[in-house]
Amino acid sequence: MTILVTGGAGYIGSHVVYGLIEQGRRVIVLDNLSSGFPEAVAEQARLTVGDVGDADLVSRLIAEHGIDAIMHFAASTVVPESVAKPVAYYKNNTVNSLALLDAAIAGGVRHFVFSSTAAVYGNPATELVSEDVAPRPMSPYGTSKLMTEMMLRDAASASGLSYVVLRYFNVAGADPKLRTGQSTRAATHLIKVAVQAALGLRDGMEIYGTDYPTPDGTCVRDYIHVCDLVSAHIKALDHLRGGGASATLNCGYGHGSSVHEIIAAVRRVSAGDFVAEPRPRRAGDPAAVVADSTRLRQLLSWTPAYDDLDTIVAHALAWERKLKLQ
Ligand code: UFG
Repeated sequence: MTILVTGGAGYIGSHVVYGLIEQGRRVIVLDNLSSGFPEAVAEQARLTVGDVGDADLVSRLIAEHGIDAIMHFAASTVVPESVAKPVAYYKNNTVNSLALLDAAIAGGVRHFVFSSTAAVYGNPATELVSEDVAPRPMSPYGTSKLMTEMMLRDAASASGLSYVVLRYFNVAGADPKLRTGQSTRAATHLIKVAVQAALGLRDGMEIYGTDYPTPDGTCVRDYIHVCDLVSAHIKALDHLRGGGASATLNCGYGHGSSVHEIIAAVRRVSAGDFVAEPRPRRAGDPAAVVADSTRLRQLLSWTPAYDDLDTIVAHALAWERKLKLQ
């Protein structure tokens, strides 16, 4: 029983690989290193460099290693980039996922855990979003992920495959042991950007929109520590291996922080100051998106261990300091 982890050299995938290895699971990583780093892959996991859309390669890996489960992280994930390059996003996220799914079913893989996103909801009518809210993505990124969810659902119902779709809200933080973290230098994610500003790695930062209908005028998001996502993945896999039914689950804490609150936390935890300039709204940003994660908590008995903004920021800072020294 070996798990194939696509995108296991990337930010979230590499954390999950460490989590799986710590539990003595056998892991094969498939990553084309377009945004991942070979040094992020745990030593005990074997890295194959290649594309998830390479059906021959995937079929060979499945047969050679007796893969019974796939965790599929490999994807392009930058929302504004997806608006500029929609075809590239549909190719990399949707078309390649279809090839992977095809090879998985043909190779007799039994379980599939898929990295989806809160971006499938678009701009929801209410701040707290449950899985029952109809998805209405506002970007090619969100659409590319939603299309994969639909392919997975239909393919699973016609085969023996069972799946869990995990819709991530705003993932942040790093491995507390600092074995891996968010290494993309040109990251656009708020906590990463603010931490880089606090460490003087960038000349201040910008706040995109201060006139939203939120308590302090800036956008509210549900920031989840990457290690709490690791436990959600492992529980999802165990659920499927235990004969559990396919499910789609939001991954977040159920409460949000504004951009101002994040900046204040980064200033507090880093004891550093930096300029944060108000700017006009960024295209396509919903005002407030928070996960109703009742289903995840109930179905998988998931309890977060890092639901504390200062801890998330402290781990993100520690990782950024480590990168700075390299
Ligand atoms: N923001 C700033 N300044 C920055 C960066 C971000 O003000 O330098 C603001 C954004 O405008 C937004 C908030 O901080 O209001 C969070 O922005 P992020 O870019 O960190 O995250 P998003 O909410 O836009 O998107 C993230 C992931 C998506 C995922 C989505 C789900 O990037 O992949 O969360 O909620 F789909």
